[in-house]
Amino acid sequence: MRKKTRLIRTTALAQRLFVCAVAVAIAPLAFGQSSSGSRPDERVVRERVDALLKQMTLEEKIGQLSQLFDFGEVKKIDEAVVGGHVGSLLFVTDPAEINRFQHLAVDKTRVHIPLIFGFDVIHGFRTIFPVPIAMAASWDPATVTTAQSIAAKEARAVGIGWAFAPMLDIARDPRWGRIVEGAGEDPYLGSAIAAAQVRGFQGDYIGSPDHILACMKHFAGYGAAEGGRDYDASYIPASQMYNVYLPPFHAAVKAGIGSAMSAYMDLNDVPATGNHWLLHDVLRDQWNFTGFVVSDANSVKSLEKHHYAKDLSDAAVRAFNAGVNMEMAIDFTAYSRNLAAAVQNGQITVQQIEAADRPILEMKVRLGLFEHPYVDEARSQRILASPEHRTAARIAAERSAVLLRNEGGLLPLKKSAYTNIAVIGPLADSQLDTLGSWAFQQDLKETVTILSGLRDKLGPQAKLTYASGVQIYRKFRSFFDDIFKLKPAVPWTAEQAKAEMSKAVNLASSSDLTILVLGEAQNMSGEAASRESLDLPGRQEQLLEAVAATRKPIVLVLLNGRPLNIKWAAQHIPAILEVWYPGTQGGNAVANLLFGDAVPGGKLPITWPRDVGQIPINYAHNTTQSPEEQGKRYWDEESTPLYPFGYGGKHRDVPSGRSRPALRTSAVWQRFASGARAQGF
Ligand code: NOJ
Repeated sequence: MRKKTRLIRTTALAQRLFVCAVAVAIAPLAFGQSSSGSRPDERVVRERVDALLKQMTLEEKIGQLSQLFDFGEVKKIDEAVVGGHVGSLLFVTDPAEINRFQHLAVDKTRVHIPLIFGFDVIHGFRTIFPVPIAMAASWDPATVTTAQSIAAKEARAVGIGWAFAPMLDIARDPRWGRIVEGAGEDPYLGSAIAAAQVRGFQGDYIGSPDHILACMKHFAGYGAAEGGRDYDASYIPASQMYNVYLPPFHAAVKAGIGSAMSAYMDLNDVPATGNHWLLHDVLRDQWNFTGFVVSDANSVKSLEKHHYAKDLSDAAVRAFNAGVNMEMAIDFTAYSRNLAAAVQNGQITVQQIEAADRPILEMKVRLGLFEHPYVDEARSQRILASPEHRTAARIAAERSAVLLRNEGGLLPLKKSAYTNIAVIGPLADSQLDTLGSWAFQQDLKETVTILSGLRDKLGPQAKLTYASGVQIYRKFRSFFDDIFKLKPAVPWTAEQAKAEMSKAVNLASSSDLTILVLGEAQNMSGEAASRESLDLPGRQEQLLEAVAATRKPIVLVLLNGRPLNIKWAAQHIPAILEVWYPGTQGGNAVANLLFGDAVPGGKLPITWPRDVGQIPINYAHNTTQSPEEQGKRYWDEESTPLYPFGYGGKHRDVPSGRSRPALRTSAVWQRFASGARAQGF
């Protein structure tokens, strides 16, 4: 593919919005990041790796190129570690277990090389921050850097040295479930947020105390999956590849990211995990990336299923030659079973194996794993319990909420005006759904739902009643449901459904304000969570319209990871607040936002379509024939979006006496504002 240099002209709006957001966000935070360590001496790093490679057998060298999931098959993993067949594990999160595995690697292997433990630290570890699309909606790199540095600190405290984040896939199709994991549709905003995340995870340099290695994913083009169907192929022309899909990855490389993950899908008919152009020509030759590439889970083995490799041995050789240093897999890797034979029969050389090992071993040296392979379990518990981390999560949730509508200035609500409030909707009191996908290590009990946040805010003198009104669930079960041990939903009978709906509507009629919390459950957004419709799932639309018919004041709070079809609400519900999946402190943030103790700081990082039929729709499209008719491209509906990219509550919505800078100078925020300096992306 030929490199195109034409700059996309239509990112001007993103640049303008971004510059304004950064100017407000960064000014009061210009103080440095403290780090007691010092940058590793690169000459020493190289020499240590040279010395190691000299001692290692071919088998040991190949071992470093394998990463296995720990799904509780302890004996098998122990054997792999002691046998030197694995250089990294993922999904081990208990510090005691991490120490145990690490002792096996350090004490029981011939060359004593520590393991590097990886995990999906996507939007927090114990303290869960708003989902990535929400963090991007803050348009605030300082908020993003702060959040990821807290996530890094918590993860590092338990012994995790490597986050499989940031996810940098530009996504322009809200049917694609993983749109929630990225920064939205725009390469400029996406690049700014990418660099901010790299600094949050890695600190000033790889090996900074309390920081971890970051991994940009999924390289590259995954967000363009056909039909928005997860894992389906992408077809991306060169100009779009260079102008839209690659820039956030390039920004991360320029910010010093140490690793990358190859994507699952075929890009222009070549699987990303076997794609020499992507992993070699672009990443290493054009961008001078010196870190290492890990495959996505099982994506080397599945080269066979893509009909790109004739068998597992061919898959291993193709991925290796394309530029995948380390294979991530469940059970066993194709590398461990086939690369030695590939060396023996001349398909690859020992020098190539060593070149693949080098950046992995270098990262282990830089991260200090040889000097400090173990963690202090007592200290880890103290760090995970930090109340300051929770405060930072609340502030981030407030900054990423987007005010979509505030007709007649209903918001902010006055506490004294409403004493009898109905809280309605299937998501209003669900802890798991307040967090969003990719949250595994949270303390669920401490997650503040919207109902409990409102209760705390209003105190015992207010009457607060709750009804879910409807049920929502997926038609097909998600594989994540097994991880959370979620029981399959038992659908209500028709009578039950009618009674629950009536109960909710009656509560609304007898209250003086209704707060409706609608959207999607956490398993409806994320990996393997694509959908063909953007409608509110289940009977939420009927619930919404029935509650609106009570003619009582209503605020609609949306919990979701993608734009939904809220055409009717946008005309009939006076106040709509998009809070995404707001995280551990979500309920407190929402209560603050609704009652004017915080200002919704977010702006949409994606175009919000009126309906699924408008997809693809994004602001940076070419100007073509009859641009003055742009809003009438369809005869049956406006062809403009419901809410454009960059849309969000205006200054006039800000309650008097409160503003964003006031929040930004808070003592807690200052302590965590290590990401305050402008990003040089
Ligand atoms: C598959 C996902 O695509 C990727 O994002 C994740 O990091 C790995 N599994 C590991 O959990």
